[in-house]
Amino acid sequence: MTEYDFLNKVVLISGAGRGLGKRAAERFGKAGAKLVLNDYSSDTLEETLKELGDEGYEVCGLAGDIADEETSKTLVQLAEKTFGSLNITINNAGIAQNMTRLHETDTDEAKRVIDVDLMGVFFAMKHQIPLMLKTAETDGVPSVILNLASAAGVMGSPNLAIYSAAKHGVVALTRSAALEYATKGIRVNALCPSFTRTNMVTDLLDGSRHGREIAEAKLLAFNPMGRLGEVDEIVQAMLWTCSDENSYYTGQTLSIDGGLRTS
Ligand SMILES: NC(=O)c1ccc[n+]([C@@H]2O[C@H](COP(=O)([O-])OP(=O)(O)OC[C@H]3O[C@@H](n4cnc5c(N)ncnc54)[C@H](O)[C@@H]3O)[C@@H](O)[C@H]2O)c1
Repeated sequence: MTEYDFLNKVVLISGAGRGLGKRAAERFGKAGAKLVLNDYSSDTLEETLKELGDEGYEVCGLAGDIADEETSKTLVQLAEKTFGSLNITINNAGIAQNMTRLHETDTDEAKRVIDVDLMGVFFAMKHQIPLMLKTAETDGVPSVILNLASAAGVMGSPNLAIYSAAKHGVVALTRSAALEYATKGIRVNALCPSFTRTNMVTDLLDGSRHGREIAEAKLLAFNPMGRLGEVDEIVQAMLWTCSDENSYYTGQTLSIDGGLRTS
């Protein structure tokens, strides 16, 4: 496992109650970061805060829905009040949609996916950027925003059309912001994993009308490596992307997907 140094970097991670966000919090904490964490679920967030606090990491958190602009505003205020700055944000919280054809997709569900997966990232960046600009100026190194998009954000995705649309939107926000802030002290990138073994995917497979085994086989039929990604295979890319050594890297979509997208 590559070791990174994020000593005293203030890192905000949404959706840190489980899955990729929780593992990211553990890895950044181990590398010395001060953590500001969020999750919709106050129970899982409390568990994460306790586990990381017991490890001796400096950590604070706020439960709330990232589809609500107030959550992102308050999270940034919490970072400033607790640690005085904001170096890195991992805008990770997100939801999947039920796998279904576009014409059968429930409209309320579609709106919720857009609210969480796209507007949530917009609200996050909108409120993070002012403090990140100040931090970059004080520290003399760029701050870093990493948005969790998806392979579905850079490819058409059958039976996931509205999720794919939201994640394409995240890629567009990422690319546009990267250009706006390239000389102002913020690097902005998007991570694009394919199906990875977290509750998001296992729940999706369990809910499939084909049953879990057939649904998994169908998913994997298109993956060149023929398997799901594992959590640490995705999270190591978060550390790499956000490292200060990666100072020339902005505006990119980083595919960690077993070779699914080649270009
Ligand atoms: N697992 C995959 O296959 C995969 C692939 C590509 C992209 N992604 C993206 O990675 C991110 C993390 O996914 P994961 O697999 O760890 O999912 P997960 O469901 O295991 O964890 C997501 C976490 O985000 C939280 N969350 C959900 N909606 C929220 C909201 N509105 N406000 C605050 N918190 C909220 C959940 O409570 C949960 O703790 C998501 O944005 C997802 O779209 C995942």
